[in-house]
Amino acid sequence: SILIVDFGSQVTQLIARRVREAGVYSEIAPFNAAKEAFARMNPAGVILSGSPASVLDENGPRIPAEILDSGLPMLGICYGQQSLMHQLGGEVLSGDSGEFGRAFIEIGDDCALFDGLWAKGESHQVWMSHGDKVTSLAPGFRPVAASPGAPFAVIANDEKRIYAMQFHPEVVHTPDGGKLLKNFVRHVCGLSGDWTMAEFRKTKIEEIRAQVGNKRVICGLSGGVDSAVAALLIHEAIGDQLTCVFVDGGVLRMGEAEQVVSLFRGHYNIPLVHVDASTLFLKGLEGVTDPEAKRKFIGKTFIDVFEDEAKKIGGAEFLAQGTLYPDVIESVSFTGGPSVTIKSHHNVGGLPERMNMKLVEPLRELFKDEVRVLGRELGLPDVFVGRHPFPGPGLAIRIPGEVTRERCDILRKADAIYLEEIRNAGLYDAIWQAFAVLLPVKTVGVMGDGRTYDSVCALRAVTSTDGMTADIYPFDAGFLSRVATRIINEVKGINRVVYDYTSKPPGTIEWE
Ligand code: XMP
Repeated sequence: SILIVDFGSQVTQLIARRVREAGVYSEIAPFNAAKEAFARMNPAGVILSGSPASVLDENGPRIPAEILDSGLPMLGICYGQQSLMHQLGGEVLSGDSGEFGRAFIEIGDDCALFDGLWAKGESHQVWMSHGDKVTSLAPGFRPVAASPGAPFAVIANDEKRIYAMQFHPEVVHTPDGGKLLKNFVRHVCGLSGDWTMAEFRKTKIEEIRAQVGNKRVICGLSGGVDSAVAALLIHEAIGDQLTCVFVDGGVLRMGEAEQVVSLFRGHYNIPLVHVDASTLFLKGLEGVTDPEAKRKFIGKTFIDVFEDEAKKIGGAEFLAQGTLYPDVIESVSFTGGPSVTIKSHHNVGGLPERMNMKLVEPLRELFKDEVRVLGRELGLPDVFVGRHPFPGPGLAIRIPGEVTRERCDILRKADAIYLEEIRNAGLYDAIWQAFAVLLPVKTVGVMGDGRTYDSVCALRAVTSTDGMTADIYPFDAGFLSRVATRIINEVKGINRVVYDYTSKPPGTIEWE
């Protein structure tokens, strides 16, 4: 295994992800707990992360002596490189101007990290983000790549198998970064690369058992992939100590509630409480048109209903959530200062404190696509695993203006037709999210010989890798006109269909 020592970089989890992609198991330990993790894990190599700190700060985090003197292969990234040099006898100075963003490095020499990848004389794109820089190398190190701003962009000590780089190989803006990390864990550390999601499953099951013991766990199912995968994993670990609660607020897509219920009760035989709270939700949404007011009401009502159910079930000490790594980063502000709330996301964040429960979050270090792999591993059907993301507040934020049961029904029909056509055209998996929006605008139309005066439906489809930015999906005109015709013919209440051509930014994916 590989130990990743975390000095507090925002992207440390990406290092773990790249190591997983290379088929190697890793664990992240904060620098002040790294010594214990090192002793426990007995790893084959160590990766040192970046950090917002400076090694020149007397109180800056340091590499524990046990690790530094272990003789194991090490890879230092950014702050990791600087701390290696600082602690092994090189020199680091604070630069007058840092280097931030894309840079090109010149390969000056061969090195084990470049095997089969980069050769002397080539130039390659990398992602830099540093203020301080290494100005002289510790004994035994040689430079193997340089950039205009960082003469020691990559350095190597082959004898000690210590390598270090100023740039960040873990981010996608360093296109070959994953391969550099793979070379480190496979070639330098000699690991075989046969670790898979099946191993992750086993490890997590052990961890869940150790955490929960013989106590009871409640898990809220949203209908989405994340909470479903979390529930399956936990059920596998502790069986019927787990109860799932599915709060249906009447704002789900066509057939969604039925699918969740039959999957959990029928297919997996997991105890599931299905609460039809649609009347409560839709009553509360009467007259509410402000997007944030809708979001807050739904979030709060969800918690109220969930809490009531949990009390009825009784005796649960743990609350399970399908929190993913991007949820964890998004909840941390990058600047350290207050960040602007664009939308208040619906999750059950307030629940654990309110109910005095402890959290079980087995997916906390995974990314969406990894959760899908794990879901397949756990036997979730492909149609379920591959489902587009769906927001907690559901259709309520796809119906600008007032949300009523009737408008939800209209939207559900239009949305189902749109998605059916997308699936039939074989486009579903190429799209991050596709959905219909029902506008609070009526326009005039003519059908047969009669005048119509009905609602407008907008179609949205975007591609994205993480939901943070998005591009519109460029359907061909024939496809869109087929969908528009079907919706207008088959859905009473809609007489006009438009396509949303806005990327994110400046738009958001959802309309509210
Ligand atoms: P926006 O609309 O902010 O959405 O561009 C980005 C992604 O987040 C989803 N989304 C939510 N997911 N609870 C969720 O779990 C929410 O309240 C919520 N609001 C938006 C949205 O569907 C897209 O995938």
